[in-house]
Amino acid sequence: MSANEKRQAGEAAIRYVENGAIVGVGTGSTVAFFIDALADLKDRIEGAVSSSEQSTAHLKRLGIPVLDLNATGPLNLYVDGADECDTHKRLIKGGGAALTREKIIAEASAKFVCIIDSSKQVQLLGKFPLPIEVIPMARSLVGREIVKRGGTPVWRDGVLTDNGNWVIDVHGWQIADPVGLENDLNQIPGIVTVGLFARRAADVVLVGDRVI
Ligand code: 5RP
Repeated sequence: MSANEKRQAGEAAIRYVENGAIVGVGTGSTVAFFIDALADLKDRIEGAVSSSEQSTAHLKRLGIPVLDLNATGPLNLYVDGADECDTHKRLIKGGGAALTREKIIAEASAKFVCIIDSSKQVQLLGKFPLPIEVIPMARSLVGREIVKRGGTPVWRDGVLTDNGNWVIDVHGWQIADPVGLENDLNQIPGIVTVGLFARRAADVVLVGDRVI
């Protein structure tokens, strides 16, 4: 993991921000660099739609207006980090437990720019445990379904998402068919969001300041 590459990626993503834009903003340490850089442009953007309480606090602290996605409608740009990224720009996200709002904003955005350092690049997704946000009463049910599919579920004990839910991290999956697994898991009652961003992958990936 390189903090320098994270900073470079966060700053390089600024080139995708257009005048008057409402920018979708993800969550995490790489996005924090993007928010810092976005503050320099705050007079020429309309504001941001935030994916977490953490990013909202950061944006507000720097004087960037935070807007409601229901009021803005579709966005042109979403900028967010990832925990893993494969060669097809499919991602594992949710290390920071913000996956649900992140996925909503990614879906609502025409362009998803993913900002990472090179340690996040993988051939096959799954070494990073796959985060899944669940309704609390469904934790055991979802855990059993994961075991049936060969995964090892680990409850992220003590973590409550911004939506009041829990997170299960799935270890031991080598994800050869990310779209298939995302679709399959999305059918299990009690799963709110799967941290696979394969159906809606990134459009552009910045590794440091390099576009891949
Ligand atoms: C939060 C996320 C983050 O984008 C992911 O965890 C990467 O974080 P960082 O930039 O701190 O490495 O998905 O839910």
